[in-house]
Amino acid sequence: MAKFTSSTQAIPSVSDVPRHVAIIMDGNGRWAKQRFLPRVAGHKCGVDTVRAMVRTCISQGIEYLTLFAFSSENWRRPADEVSFLMGLFVTALQGEVGKLHTNGVRLRVVGDLQAFEPRLLTLIREGEALTANNTRLTLTIAANYGGRWDILQAINQLTLSHPEKAGHYTEADLIPHLAMAYAPEPDLFIRTGGEQRISNFLLWQLAYSEFYFTDTLWPDFTDATLSEAIRSYQQRERRFGRTGDQIRSVGVSPAPTL
Ligand code: IPE
Ligand code: IPE
Ligand code: MG
Repeated sequence: MAKFTSSTQAIPSVSDVPRHVAIIMDGNGRWAKQRFLPRVAGHKCGVDTVRAMVRTCISQGIEYLTLFAFSSENWRRPADEVSFLMGLFVTALQGEVGKLHTNGVRLRVVGDLQAFEPRLLTLIREGEALTANNTRLTLTIAANYGGRWDILQAINQLTLSHPEKAGHYTEADLIPHLAMAYAPEPDLFIRTGGEQRISNFLLWQLAYSEFYFTDTLWPDFTDATLSEAIRSYQQRERRFGRTGDQIRSVGVSPAPTL
C-alpha cells in the first residue's frame, strides 16, 4: 500500500492550508541585473528568502516545502555561475543545517546527487541523517533534479526489482520508487519570476496540483506573496476529474471511489 493517496487514483485529503507547497524559485538573475549586480548576487539573496520561507511555512502549519534549487539543465549555464551555485549550496548547508534541526525541520535533497563533488555529497548526507526524525516541516531541496530523470530512475529501479511484472506495472508499483515517495503530492505549486512553465520540475507529482504564477522575483518573495498564493489556492475547487457536485457532496475529506 502506498503511504499517500495518488491524485489520479482517489481524492487526496484536502484542507484549507496546503499540506505540501512546491516552489520554482526563479528570477534571481533578473533581480540582480535590475540592481546592476552580478547574477550570483541574486542567488545569494535567494538563500535569505529560503530561510524566511521555512520560518513562514512552519508558522502556517505547512508540512512539506519543496524548493527547486538546481535543475538537471542548469549545468548548461556559464561555468562560473554553476560553480558559485555549488559553493553556495555548501555554505548554506554548513550554516543552516544546525538551525533547521533546532527548529524541528527534516531536510531531504532529491535529484541525481552523484554528479556533486564529495564534500557537498557528505554535507547532504550528514544533514539528512541529523534531521531524519524531525516532524515539524519536511524541507526538500531539488538539486540536479529533473522530472524526467525521476520517472526514469523509478522505472529502472522497478524493472530491476520486479522483472517478472514487466508489461503489467501499475502506478502503485512505480510510486514508491519516485524520489519524493516520502511526501504527499504537492497541493500548491508556485513559480516566481513571471515564467509560466514547469521546466522539468516534478512532472509526475504535479498531476493535480494547483498552479500559482507570480511576477515577483524570488529574492523579493515574502510572507505576503506566499499568503497571496495560499489565498488563491483556497478559492480553487479541486475536482480531480470529478464534477463539482460530486466533490461538494463528499466535502473535503478523502473519498476512495466515486
Ligand atoms: C533561479 O533564478 C535560480 C536557479 C535556476 C539556480 P535564475 O538564475 O534562473 O534567475 P533568472 O531567471 O535568470 O532571472
Ligand atoms: C528552473 O529555473 C530551475 C530552478 C529554479 C532551479 P530556470 O531559470 O532554469 O528555468 P528556465 O530555463 O527559464 O525554464
Ligand atoms: Mg530562471
